[in-house]
Amino acid sequence: MVSDMVAAPARIVPSVLPADFARMGEECQALEKAGVDRIQWDVMDGHFVPNLTFGPDVVAASRAVVDLPFEAHLMVTNPDASLDRWVVAGCSLLIVHAEACPHLHRTLAAIREAGASSGVALNPATPLDAVAHVLDLVDLLLVMTVNPGFGGQRYLATMEPKIAAARRLIDQRGLDIELEVDGGIGPETIAGAAAAGATTFCAGSALFGFDGGLEAGVTELRGRAIQAAR
Ligand code: DX5
Repeated sequence: MVSDMVAAPARIVPSVLPADFARMGEECQALEKAGVDRIQWDVMDGHFVPNLTFGPDVVAASRAVVDLPFEAHLMVTNPDASLDRWVVAGCSLLIVHAEACPHLHRTLAAIREAGASSGVALNPATPLDAVAHVLDLVDLLLVMTVNPGFGGQRYLATMEPKIAAARRLIDQRGLDIELEVDGGIGPETIAGAAAAGATTFCAGSALFGFDGGLEAGVTELRGRAIQAAR
């Protein structure tokens, strides 16, 4: 029987790192209007990564003006210390870095106990094996396609074998884990990530810098991802 070919989902999740911080609420409303699936807050502590960005109060201020789900990408040392604050601020998905969590199993369980979905990010040098024994606690796997800390970096196509290995692992074990990529995602790179098996795409500079505006950018990226995933 020919199975109904259902296009793989292509979730577009903008990072607000390139947004106008003086008008963050309006920027989130514009993203909602443009049809994105979620908003990613790139949380950086100046320690795990060189940059310093948002605290939970900044996230909470925008929570009140949009209905979109928020994810917090916690590029921070010791994320366990602030999990509840991100949930209270309005994030329904918390993504921690495997490299920042000496007790990753406990941290992922703590995220779920706090009432959020659990995500784990892998830096480019970190192998997929780092999450081999915690997949039962993972709702989302984020494969970094740049070294974290700044937007506007070049996409690392060398991560595509890792993306493909993650896709195979999720599918072969029948896991309900969303596979997201983050870093350098734009019209010229999203197809490679989608063909490798990613279904959620975090984009910052490519979206905010798209010539035709946010809505056209979302449509372009989603269309290229769906086309590449067939
Ligand atoms: C890296 C950040 C960036 C950001 C997206 O620390 O996580 O990947 O989300 O930035 P662009 O899309 O500009 O590479």
